[in-house]
Amino acid sequence: IRRDVRLKGDAICTLFLVVVLGSLLYSQLEHLSPRNREQTHKKPSPTQRVFPGLEAPKRYSQADVTFAQPRIITVTKDAELASNQARTTTSPPLTHSAFDFKHYLLNKDNRNFDLLINQPKKCKRTPGGPFLLIAVKSVIEDFDRREIVRKTWGREGLVNGVQVQRVFLLGIPKNKTALATWEILVHQESLMYQDILLWDFLDTFFNLTLKEIHFLNWAVEFCPTMKFIFKGDADVFVNVENIIDFLERRDPEDDLFVGDIIYNAHPIRVQKSKYYIPETMYGLGTYPVYAGGGGFLLSSSTIRKLFQACKEVELFPIDDVFLGMCLQRINLKPVSHEGFKTFGIVKPSAAPHLQTFDPCFYKDLMVVHSLKVAEIWLMWNLLHSPRLSCTQKKTVAPYTDTQSKIQPPKIL
Ligand SMILES: *[C@@H]1O[C@H](CO)[C@@H](O)[C@H](O)[C@H]1NC(C)=O
Ligand SMILES: *[C@@H]1O[C@H](CO)[C@@H](O)[C@H](O)[C@H]1NC(C)=O
Repeated sequence: IRRDVRLKGDAICTLFLVVVLGSLLYSQLEHLSPRNREQTHKKPSPTQRVFPGLEAPKRYSQADVTFAQPRIITVTKDAELASNQARTTTSPPLTHSAFDFKHYLLNKDNRNFDLLINQPKKCKRTPGGPFLLIAVKSVIEDFDRREIVRKTWGREGLVNGVQVQRVFLLGIPKNKTALATWEILVHQESLMYQDILLWDFLDTFFNLTLKEIHFLNWAVEFCPTMKFIFKGDADVFVNVENIIDFLERRDPEDDLFVGDIIYNAHPIRVQKSKYYIPETMYGLGTYPVYAGGGGFLLSSSTIRKLFQACKEVELFPIDDVFLGMCLQRINLKPVSHEGFKTFGIVKPSAAPHLQTFDPCFYKDLMVVHSLKVAEIWLMWNLLHSPRLSCTQKKTVAPYTDTQSKIQPPKIL
């Protein structure tokens, strides 16, 4: 009987532990799953606020939101700023679509933000510095995208005989309630992978220009030894081998800016558009020549020139156009390359039987925009499969050791 009781006791104990574990797991999942995390309204606790400057969100008056009288800006600037600071904490009347151009113009000169997470040794790990530095624009919330980039085209180390290093470019998440633990997570991520650069500005679409200039500063200061940079989005597929193949025939001391180049783009004057730019902000009818932000290549020499040029160009809220303005300033012509498909792949009308998600398409490309996480993973694996055979096969990879192991040994 005593053994029975003990067994029963053990069973109850186990059951209890299972329940506790289960509920613990469940509460964790609730925090992590994107659907549920939208329902949590928890504010980050004061102890989580590691960074200064976040506590005092700026408030906008209704007058600031509508872009009514742009010319008065400089006159009223100080008074307005002072009154803004004095305003109480009712929620701002900003809607999603209304971009506050007036506020942007007011704060345009504020373009130096602290680097909160740095990787000062990133380019010192190899004697000559990296041949290629991959810099990927990302937002804190996209852990999964960064993870897949690390495991596929963003791999660090030797690729085709040259050194490749990687950084992710991040700002402060705009909606902190959506991910209350973001600071802890991003610090852990940085410790684990040493590829996070985090700056102290809000990570919004219209702040991507800030990301651009802060990255240029960083590259010049902390990575002067790199030969080339690939800069792009996290939702692209990059054929790094092709890029290296292309770059190996170039001199990093020559000008080089290659991508999907856009000529004669007009500013969009439709207010509802994501890219709406009022004439008061940009009066000319066309933008300078610029590269689609999905991905482009620069030489070390061009980086240094751009860094200088961009210092003298006023901030403009669309980052790739802004870079075009910097290029124009130093009269540097970006070069178009058909391997950069930053608007995705258009199904060739001449060969409708081909699927666009065919690895043989990607084999000769450099950058393809707009892929889902799983597609990036799948494409990378398909392209690196020894069984991949495309009819117009150019030399994909040299005969490597791993391949020779698969071959049956020759018996003499
Ligand atoms: C921030 O995220 C929370 C939770 O996902 C959501 O309820 C809220 O509306 C968001 N706020 C803004 C300003 O987007
Ligand atoms: C850019 O970031 C700064 C600093 O966090 C912020 O004050 C500003 O509102 C942001 N601008 C836009 C357009 O999101």
